[in-house]
Amino acid sequence: LPPETQQMYEAHDLLRKFYHHLLVNTKDGQHALEYLLDRGFTLESIAKFQIGYSLNSWDFVLKFLTKRKFPTEVIEKAGLIIKREKDGNYFDRFRDRIMFPIYDRNGQTIAFSGRSLGADEPKYLNSPETVIFNKSKILYNFHLARPQIKKQQQAILFEGFADVIAADRAGVENGIGTMGTSLTEDHVSALRRNVQSITICYDSDHAGIEAAYRAGNMLSEAGCQVRVALMPDGMDPDDYIKQVGEEPFRKEVIGASVTLMAFKLRYYRRGKRLHDEGDRLLYIEEVLAEISKLDNAVERDHYLRQIANEFSLSLEALKEQQKQIFFNQKRKD
Ligand code: CTP
Ligand code: MN
Ligand code: MN
Ligand code: MN
Ligand code: MN
Repeated sequence: LPPETQQMYEAHDLLRKFYHHLLVNTKDGQHALEYLLDRGFTLESIAKFQIGYSLNSWDFVLKFLTKRKFPTEVIEKAGLIIKREKDGNYFDRFRDRIMFPIYDRNGQTIAFSGRSLGADEPKYLNSPETVIFNKSKILYNFHLARPQIKKQQQAILFEGFADVIAADRAGVENGIGTMGTSLTEDHVSALRRNVQSITICYDSDHAGIEAAYRAGNMLSEAGCQVRVALMPDGMDPDDYIKQVGEEPFRKEVIGASVTLMAFKLRYYRRGKRLHDEGDRLLYIEEVLAEISKLDNAVERDHYLRQIANEFSLSLEALKEQQKQIFFNQKRKD
């Protein structure tokens, strides 16, 4: 490794340990620790995920790393300090935030995400892209979850840090997270190499449902068996575990996940009044288009029968219509 890269890893490793120390052992970190405990984080998960606290200071990191002989240029390239345009002075990127270390697949710390304690924006501040951190490739918690994913032959995909950590506390240890809602092709292939069966457990809000639809298609096109775990409207996994409980999360959310197709049936239903003829025909059209994409004839038959029953339509007519849609899709490809 080039010496600069080596130094970047070392700087992150030192800071991870120090941020964690500040959170759990010092008066400066006390309000941050109280915030986390209030939210339902336990000391055990704070230790396991090495959560920390960055001081409310403009130059703590600069001094801390300079004293340990790290060149300023390397600290800046690592994304830990920022150069001010005006006077060329440097200041710390992360100040007065809860620090989530981000690891690569070997368990080396390569970046941080800092959550503000109050309503400060942005809610999460991430390290920039560096030679050691490529956000579109990193899955949060992959290094810890991988053995569990292999063992259970199943991965659970979350949106955020708090969700992965709360799920882990609830005994769901095969969880990984994209840092935000957009899954990339790099994430998909990294996942597909390790596991076939994936359950998406995104937030049950508008953004989360749209993202689950998109991620579901990407994973399914890559050959994954996809299920979607749903929660009451507006909740995310972390909220659910805190408000409803760990066992209900395992049994009624993860354990009651539905197939991607069943999720899509609900997805197309949202915002429609199915007793209205126009909405109902649109719904049937959208659902038939999805059914047409299924490779499995038995599955297609199953959903066609379900729709036929639900809307008292003849199965023959539905099949006819579905074939028509299928050939139109083929023509477009
Ligand atoms: N995120 C981000 N920058 C933001 C907001 C969100 O990078 N300004 C990423 C974070 O990785 C976050 C994930 O998107 O964990 C999901 O966002 P959101 O649902 O808004 O946050 P939560 O994970 O629910 O965070 P919290 O419970 O702390 O509010
Ligand atoms: Mn969200
Ligand atoms: Mn959320
Ligand atoms: Mn949340
Ligand atoms: Mn929230």
